Amino acid sequence: MSIPLKANDTLPKTDLLSEIERLRKEKNAVILAHYYQDPEIQDLADFVGDSLDLSRKAAATDADVIVFCGVRFMAEVAKILSPDKTVVLPDMEAGCSLEDSCPPEEFAKFREKYPDHICLTYINCSAAVKAQSDIIVTSSNAEYILNQIPKDQKVMMAPDRHLGAYLSKKTGREMIFWPGSCIVHERFSEKELIKLKAEHPDAPVTAHPECPEHILRHADHVGSTSSILKFVLDNPAEKFLVATEPGILHQMQKSAPHKTFIGAPGADGNCNCNNCPYMALNTLEKLYSCLNTLGPEIHVDEETRIRALAPLNKMLEMSPAQAPTPPKTGRAF
Ligand code: 13P
Ligand code: SF4
Repeated sequence: MSIPLKANDTLPKTDLLSEIERLRKEKNAVILAHYYQDPEIQDLADFVGDSLDLSRKAAATDADVIVFCGVRFMAEVAKILSPDKTVVLPDMEAGCSLEDSCPPEEFAKFREKYPDHICLTYINCSAAVKAQSDIIVTSSNAEYILNQIPKDQKVMMAPDRHLGAYLSKKTGREMIFWPGSCIVHERFSEKELIKLKAEHPDAPVTAHPECPEHILRHADHVGSTSSILKFVLDNPAEKFLVATEPGILHQMQKSAPHKTFIGAPGADGNCNCNNCPYMALNTLEKLYSCLNTLGPEIHVDEETRIRALAPLNKMLEMSPAQAPTPPKTGRAF
């Protein structure tokens, strides 16, 4: 039975879930979700993954509609890679502080200053910045791609200075960085993390490379969200400290309910300040509404899209083979 609803009507949760299910089939839609989305969105998605996994899924899907439960730059990537699909984002305000830190006009001046540098640009940026870049990278392939660039080639990285500093330290390469950062990963407190480590000395620390160096230096493992998930599932330890957005804890708990996962703290030791406020804008109600109305829809002007596609395709060509998806992400089919 189809329930006549307006976009802002509220429905009991069970009706909302069955309406989403009905609309997904009716519109031949695929729901892609990032690990930082609310658990209820992760649970109904067709696929949950990191930025690289989601780009690959968006490029390969045969659905007519991609409902992107993540932030705007991720949905834009889906549109750039799959221009014939309708790509919708539950909330168009779901931006990213890294994208905001790097306005395209300023980025153009930055590039002009270093004409002999190749630019590796983190996927967390606008389509207009991608269009001015040489190769796009994500946290799961940046080191792998950097290692394919000849050692005598000068490199610049934008917009995440912490990812840049991490890669520079790891590979021993000097690089020029754009001074951007993620407001979420910058809020972890080293002092509180040290206290937590003392309380749980048997718990390995895992962290996202968007964290500043004073957090990364305490990590036993640094990697993308998928890599962090794989680490905690493969590692025999029973307890882990996790320094990234706490949305990832949901898949950890689902896949290894016998293990304990503790989110790294912010400055007061107990804040919610490391929840991504942009990711949190997407809700079940907005997901329903965007499937129902096929809006808000992502548009990228064709000239920008073609220019942004080249460095994105370079990224896909230079990435490691697709890692097996960690178990039980997205819906069980
Ligand atoms: P991942 O590619 O590791 O999922 O990171 C995306 C992101 O925005 C982290 O803040
Ligand atoms: Fe952007 Fe940080 Fe949110 Fe990731 S966690 S989407 S980098 S603001």
